[in-house]
Amino acid sequence: MSDFYAIAIDGPSGAGKSTMARKLAETFGFIYVDTGAIYRTVGLACLRAGIDRKDVEAVMELLPTLEIAIRYNGAGEQRMFLNGEDVSTEIRLPEISLCASDVSAHQAVRSFLLEMQRKFARENNVVMDGRDIGTVVLPDARLKVFLTASAEARAKRRLAELLAKGESQSFEEVLRDIRYRDEQDTARAAAPLKRADDAVELDSSELDFDETFAVLCELVITRLAVEPEAAE
Ligand code: DC
Repeated sequence: MSDFYAIAIDGPSGAGKSTMARKLAETFGFIYVDTGAIYRTVGLACLRAGIDRKDVEAVMELLPTLEIAIRYNGAGEQRMFLNGEDVSTEIRLPEISLCASDVSAHQAVRSFLLEMQRKFARENNVVMDGRDIGTVVLPDARLKVFLTASAEARAKRRLAELLAKGESQSFEEVLRDIRYRDEQDTARAAAPLKRADDAVELDSSELDFDETFAVLCELVITRLAVEPEAAE
């Protein structure tokens, strides 16, 4: 068993996993690993290569040519590199979300990325978020949370985020993308999105950020017997 603590946060798109995981990591002095960003990087690579990302053969041919790296900058922020280029901003475009969901359905892609994710947890205290962290990537995680919310609540939050970034999309478009990804991420045969048997399920539809975060902090403190790091 690893000497490090691992916290796994899984759930559907837009449930607030990354915001919560990032803040938890900061509070307890852990490293935050956003695994969706890794799938997004593969999705971007497929888009750039102009291949049909639903075509498993074509995607498999591309994989060995990709050098994907996660690096942390001085501020402790995760940056994604594709063949040496920092693609952290580009992978956040809405069209890349769909590409990521498509490529993540291939078992070959998941296997290609598995070791890279596990290595982080062998070497650091981590808060890792994704879809299959508690079920596949880190089945021995000390704390597993399945963070969810209704599709409408998630679309509302995502729309607010997009508007804040100056990107314009309608509520209907955002909701449609969320439903598409929910359907695809849940129905796929390879590591589908599902709650691990030993995960705590937290529905944040009716909770605000502070309320959700308070529940998570309490879980970390009781399950891991760790305390928040003193603020500097
Ligand atoms: O969390 P996100 O929206 O950045 O994830 C992008 C896509 O990647 C999402 O549709 C599902 C997929 N994904 C996955 O299959 N497994 C993970 N551990 C993380 C993300």
